[in-house]
Amino acid sequence: MDKFVVRGGNPLLGTIKVSGAKNSALPCMAAAILTEDEVILENIPQVQDIETERKLLTSMGAEVQLGYGRAQHRTHIKCAILSDPVAKYEIVKTMRASSLVLGPLIARTGIARVAMPGGCAIGGRPIDLHIKGLEAMGATITQDHGYLEARTDRLRGAHIVFDKITVTGTEDLLMAATLAEGETLFENCAREPEVTDLATLLIAMGANIEGAGTSTIRVQGVARLHGARHRINPDRIEAGTFLMAGAITGGDLNVDCCEPAHLGSLIAKLEQCGVRIDVGKDNIRVRSGGQLTASDITTEEYPGFPTDMQAQFMALATQAEGTTTVTENIFENRFMHVQELIRMGANITVSGRTATIRGKTSLQSAAVMCSDLRASASLVLAALVADGESILDRVYHMDRGYERLEEKLRGVGAQIRRMGDVFGKK
Ligand code: UD1
Repeated sequence: MDKFVVRGGNPLLGTIKVSGAKNSALPCMAAAILTEDEVILENIPQVQDIETERKLLTSMGAEVQLGYGRAQHRTHIKCAILSDPVAKYEIVKTMRASSLVLGPLIARTGIARVAMPGGCAIGGRPIDLHIKGLEAMGATITQDHGYLEARTDRLRGAHIVFDKITVTGTEDLLMAATLAEGETLFENCAREPEVTDLATLLIAMGANIEGAGTSTIRVQGVARLHGARHRINPDRIEAGTFLMAGAITGGDLNVDCCEPAHLGSLIAKLEQCGVRIDVGKDNIRVRSGGQLTASDITTEEYPGFPTDMQAQFMALATQAEGTTTVTENIFENRFMHVQELIRMGANITVSGRTATIRGKTSLQSAAVMCSDLRASASLVLAALVADGESILDRVYHMDRGYERLEEKLRGVGAQIRRMGDVFGKK
């Protein structure tokens, strides 16, 4: 297993570029299932989750070409024949977002077999709302041997009110509704930019959708969708992680190729912490003299403060003067990074869904373990200001969602390198 070796102390200076959003790319790749024609997606990030989705689609019979570098991170997907409409457990267990194929598969082929995702590090994460929605659209769903099987002659439009706001649930059912007979009205939808990005692709494929990006979405089903070309949005979570990296190291960093409009809650919070932010058209400059003040956060659905930035913000809070409270409202068990930050010298206590961070504490280097994607990013941020050399184990979590993180950070002055396992295990 690869490790990162990080030596703290350098302020980050210069320009760092943001890649395409993994959480947009995953549903957009699944959307290709809805048509026999070719779908071309640009600005696909080169991360492990995308490779997993490629495997998932090819295992069903799709042709997927992924090209990076000169090919501008472009993927060509053609689902002319879906000979095996099954999402196998071996793939689903490594990536929960595999359940995004459920809606498009049943809409296109009338049958879908998808392994049920197991538990994961940040809580139970059920998919009951995906199932409930498909049943309301006329699918019959059965469960056997750890798989869900959905069948229908043709989905029909329905009125679906989500009991709880779910991002992939909204995306999954939105895709299903594009090919259903008649109108589907969704209420209490997720408003995340990734939902809007997916809807933009679906509309380019011939879908009839109104209201994406608001909590009410209306879809008029069509008989067939066609191919399209679409450019994936910049990754707002990667951009946010870089803003935090600039702020925590007392740097002067230009975060380029991002979409500032998607980062409102984060920018406001950093300003409250005393960080200087200058917003451009597609870049954000972050400057900090290292003098940070405490400011509380509560994670919320978009446009609130994202749960995917909570762990990174907690690393920042260890360097702020005063007491910060961090309340996690979206997922249970999303404080896995706390114990590792404490091992580096942070003063954090947790009570239920709230963590209290008392700063400022000087962090010490340590050997620490990455437990999930965003927790890993929080440990990198802490290591960038710790005294001495930290070793981060299990960086495969990071590789699921951050493209060449160590190279990008090295380019702006961080001392970080990847170390392969001496025994050659991946
Ligand atoms: C997506 C993102 C993830 C982010 C999360 C919240 C992708 C691939 N992943 O995950 O990075 O952290 O949104 O912004 O886009 N829930 C149910 N039943 C369901 C579905 C969800 O109870 O059927 C609950 C979950 O347990 C959780 C909450 O709803 O408490 C929100 O989850 P959801 O928005 O679905 O997260 P994901 O879409 O899995």
